[in-house]
Amino acid sequence: MATPLFRTKSISQVMAESESSASRLKRSLSAFDLTMIGIGAIIGAGIFALTGNAAATKAGPAVVLSFVLSGIGCAFAGLCYAEMAAMIPVAGSAYTYAYATLGELFAWIIGWALVLEYAVGAITVAISWSGYFVRFLEKGFHIQLPFEWVNGYLVTQTDAAGVVHHGIFNVPAVILVGLITVLLIVGVKESVRATSAIVFVKIFAVLLFLGIGAQHVDSANWSPFMPFGPWGIVQGAGTIFFAYIGFDAVTTMSEEAKNAQRDLPIGIIASLIACTVLYIGVAAVLTGMVPYLQLKDPAPVTLALSRAGVSWGVMLVSVGALAGLGSVVMVMMMGQPRVFFAMSRDGLLPASISQVHPKYQTPYRSTLLTGLVVAACASTLSTEVAGNLTSMGTLFAFVLVCLGVLVLRKSEPDRPRPFKAPLVPVVPVLGMLTCLGMMAGLDSATWLNFFVWLAIGLVIYFSYGKHHSVLSRKPS
Ligand code: ALA
Repeated sequence: MATPLFRTKSISQVMAESESSASRLKRSLSAFDLTMIGIGAIIGAGIFALTGNAAATKAGPAVVLSFVLSGIGCAFAGLCYAEMAAMIPVAGSAYTYAYATLGELFAWIIGWALVLEYAVGAITVAISWSGYFVRFLEKGFHIQLPFEWVNGYLVTQTDAAGVVHHGIFNVPAVILVGLITVLLIVGVKESVRATSAIVFVKIFAVLLFLGIGAQHVDSANWSPFMPFGPWGIVQGAGTIFFAYIGFDAVTTMSEEAKNAQRDLPIGIIASLIACTVLYIGVAAVLTGMVPYLQLKDPAPVTLALSRAGVSWGVMLVSVGALAGLGSVVMVMMMGQPRVFFAMSRDGLLPASISQVHPKYQTPYRSTLLTGLVVAACASTLSTEVAGNLTSMGTLFAFVLVCLGVLVLRKSEPDRPRPFKAPLVPVVPVLGMLTCLGMMAGLDSATWLNFFVWLAIGLVIYFSYGKHHSVLSRKPS
């Protein structure tokens, strides 16, 4: 009999449970929808906000190479995700894969870490959206909103007299999260339709930037190319990683895919390739338009256009960025409830959470829970803390998914794999190493927060999940 901590489910068991469960989700998504979900989750605060800082303080114009490096790391992890997703097309993503490979305790830990990716990711981007929105009103319409009501308590500002002011409540972020929560409850197909429309707007914004920006590139700005040396490129890759987060959100929607085994790998890989190409282009044009030291700005893309004197471009790209950030929040908030849903169906969280809405067929309780938590935190926190924690949780999940591929190739070598990651074990091992390297590059405060988060998770598991787990009720 397996020891309780490492009790595990076979893949067949995971699949059968999802097929027979009373809590089922409706299969309505195509390969195109899944790709849109991927791009919807990927292009956001990373490219529209973080790129400038990474260029100015870490990599210089060689931030282009940081994008290449980070993209390669994500490609290894993406191929592993694609193999797992096609083999186990069940809601819950990395959490579910861990259950079938490494056992319940690891599954719980990874599910708990995914909260950092999805819920904390949504919090980070919702705050960033609010910042963009405030600047958009200021620059475009000369409307000044009071600092206190567009920032959380943890955000401070020092005035000319040296007095420190705290924010009180981030109203725009909470309104955004509230609207998205309602949309997600009303229907996943409707939410995906909204995401697809937004994805077109944000891709248009990126292409517009590339089109206008290319005409204002001064190649002198690319020299020196590597002012911070090769290590700067690696550090830049750690920051830039945030920009790639989201392709794995496709796998949280597995149970709603019409042809999951074929379409999930397409959704993951297509969205990752499209975004990598766009990112490299944006990084090259941006650093060619403005000397890298001047890019330290929360909205570098619009800064560059405004320097080039293209004010109509500033407005259009700002609208695209707002749409882009909004869609990231939407997909993150679509992913989180589905992980909770899978955990609750397994008994690790209360069963009431996995109830599906009788009319809308969506996991409405877990969606509401996510909305409340994200709104509460987005109303108070700042982006820095939340952003790094998001990257840490995501990288941790990536490492375990790569490990899962290795374990399953050994333990179930004959199981049909509709998609096979190439060059195993090289690809998963390199995936693990790159992700661990990027984790090592995160600061000590983030590591501390991460360990505190894991400790809280373990307390919950040992006081609740372990005893209520569906698996604990069955003979193993
Ligand atoms: N990749 C997402 C973004 O950059 C999280 O906003």
